[in-house]
Amino acid sequence: MSFVITTPLYYVNDKPHLGSVYTTIICDSIARYKRLKGEDVMFITGVDEHGLKIQRTANEKGIEPKTHCDEISEIFTINWKNWDISFDKFIRTSSKSHESVVNEFYERVKESNDIYMGVQKGWYCVGCEEFKDNPENSATYKCPIHQKNLEWKNEENLFFRLSKYQKQIEKIISEPSFIEPIERRNEIVNFVSKGLKDFSISRTNVSWGIPVPGHLNHTFYVWFDALLGYVSAISSNETESSLEMSINAGWPADIHLIGKDILRFHAVYWPAMLISAGMRVPKKVLGHGFLTREGQKMGKSLGNVLDPDQLLSRYGNDPVRWYLIKDISLGSDGDFQDKRFVDIINNDLANTIGNLLNRTSSMSRKWFDNKVPNNEKISTNNKLENFAKIAVEKYMHNFEIYKLDHAANEVLNLAINTNLYLNDNQPWLLVKEKDNLPFVKEIIYAVLESTRIIGLLLLPLLPELSSKINEQLGSIYKKEIPWEEQLRWGLLISNSSLPKPTPIINKLEYE
Ligand code: MSP
Repeated sequence: MSFVITTPLYYVNDKPHLGSVYTTIICDSIARYKRLKGEDVMFITGVDEHGLKIQRTANEKGIEPKTHCDEISEIFTINWKNWDISFDKFIRTSSKSHESVVNEFYERVKESNDIYMGVQKGWYCVGCEEFKDNPENSATYKCPIHQKNLEWKNEENLFFRLSKYQKQIEKIISEPSFIEPIERRNEIVNFVSKGLKDFSISRTNVSWGIPVPGHLNHTFYVWFDALLGYVSAISSNETESSLEMSINAGWPADIHLIGKDILRFHAVYWPAMLISAGMRVPKKVLGHGFLTREGQKMGKSLGNVLDPDQLLSRYGNDPVRWYLIKDISLGSDGDFQDKRFVDIINNDLANTIGNLLNRTSSMSRKWFDNKVPNNEKISTNNKLENFAKIAVEKYMHNFEIYKLDHAANEVLNLAINTNLYLNDNQPWLLVKEKDNLPFVKEIIYAVLESTRIIGLLLLPLLPELSSKINEQLGSIYKKEIPWEEQLRWGLLISNSSLPKPTPIINKLEYE
C-alpha cells in the first residue's frame, strides 16, 4: 500500500510564495525520508483552480479563467521542479478526470441523503473562500488573513448535512494522532464542541466551477471540489479517474500537511464528506504554523513579500531548505529574518559541516596518500562511533514523529561533536610521532566515517548537499542497498581513494 502525502492544492491567483514553498519543502522531506525507509510513496501536490477568487483574478487581467489557470499552473510545476520537489502527482482541479470524480462523489453523498436546498446568508471572505461566523461590525470587518472586507451573500445553495456527523467527528478528532500538533487539535476540539452546522456546497454566482448535475446555474463550492482533488490525484492519468480507482490505488491519505489557516476544512468538513460517501478518512492532518518576515505578516501592501524565485537564484536550494526545516519548529509560527538566515547558513552549513569535510579530507589526503586510512581500531569504544549511533537513532525517532527541526539538529550536533573529537585528539600533533600512526588512522577514519553518515542523514533534508558530501568521500548512496543499512558504522572502505575536493557550500554575505 502506498504512503500518500499531500500538500494543499494551492490557489492559482498568483505564483507560489514563500508560504507555499515552505509547505511543499516539508512534504518533500517527509516523502524522501519515507522512500528511503523503503515505503512506496505517493506525494501529491497541485492547484485549486475554481471559485470566485480565481474568476475575479482572471477578469481583472481581462482573460478567460482557463487561460489564466493554464499560465499559473505551469508556473507552479516549473517552480516545483526548480526547487527539486520530488512530487509524484500534480493535480489540476480544472481537469476533466477530476470533474468526473466530483460528480461521482456528489452522487454518493446525495444517496446518503446528505444534500438539501436551502438559503445561505452571511459574510463571505473571497480570499479564504469561506463564510465567517458573525464577525462584529461585519461591514467594516477585515479578514485577518487577507486584510479585505467581507462581502454579504444571500442566495439559494445546496447544503451538506454536516450536523449529522457531530458524534463521528468528535470521535475522530479525539484520536490524538489525527490532528497534530496538540495546539491545532485543541482548536478543532473547541470548534466542534460548539456544534457543527450544515454548510453550503454550491454557488449560483460563480460560473468558473464544476456544474452541479441537475441544478442549472449552480457550480460546486470551490472547497467541496478542491478537497476531492486529493482523491482524483491518486488515480488520475490525464483522461480517466474514478473513486473506485483511487480507493484501489491508495486512498486514504496518510498525511495532509497544511497550514493552520485551512484546518477546519481538512479536519472537520472533509472527514464528514468522506464518511457520507462511504470512504475512509485521512489518517493524519498535520497543521503547520505561519511564516512572517522580520516579525511582520507578509503582504503585497506591506511590500515585504519574499520572492522564492529570487531566494532560490541568490542562495540555492539547500540553504533555504535548511533554514525552513531547521529553524522553524513544525507546527509553530516562524519568522524569516535576513540576518538570521545568513548567520545560520554560515554557522551550520559552511563552518560546521562544510569545514569538517574540508579539514578531514585534506588531512587524510595529505597523510594517507589521497586515501581513506585503514580502519584500525585501537580503542575498544570509539567515542565518535557512539555519538554517531545515538544521533542516528534520535534522528529516526524525530523524523517518525515529524519533528523535522529536531532531526536536522541531530545531524548538526553530530557534526559539532565530530569537530570537537578532532580538536580534542589533535591528530596534527600526533602525526609527528611514528608510533602514534595507528591512533591517527583511527581518528581520521572515525571522522571521515562520521562525515559519511552526516551526508547520508542529510539525504531527505538537503538532497544536493548530501550527494556533494558523499561524492567527496568517494562513498555515494546506493539505491539498491537499504538506506538504514548504509547508515551503519564502519562501511567507509579502508584505502579507498578520496576524490579531489571542491567547495560544497559557499559562505553567504549580508546584502
Ligand atoms: N486552495 C486552498 C487549499 C485547498 S486544499 C484542498 C488554499 N490555497 S492557498 O494557496 O491559499 O494555500 C494555503 C496554504 O499555503 C496554507 O495552508 C499553507 O500551507 C501555505 N501558506 C500560505 N501562506 C503561508 C504563510 N505565510 N506561512 C506558511 N504557510 C502559508 O488555501
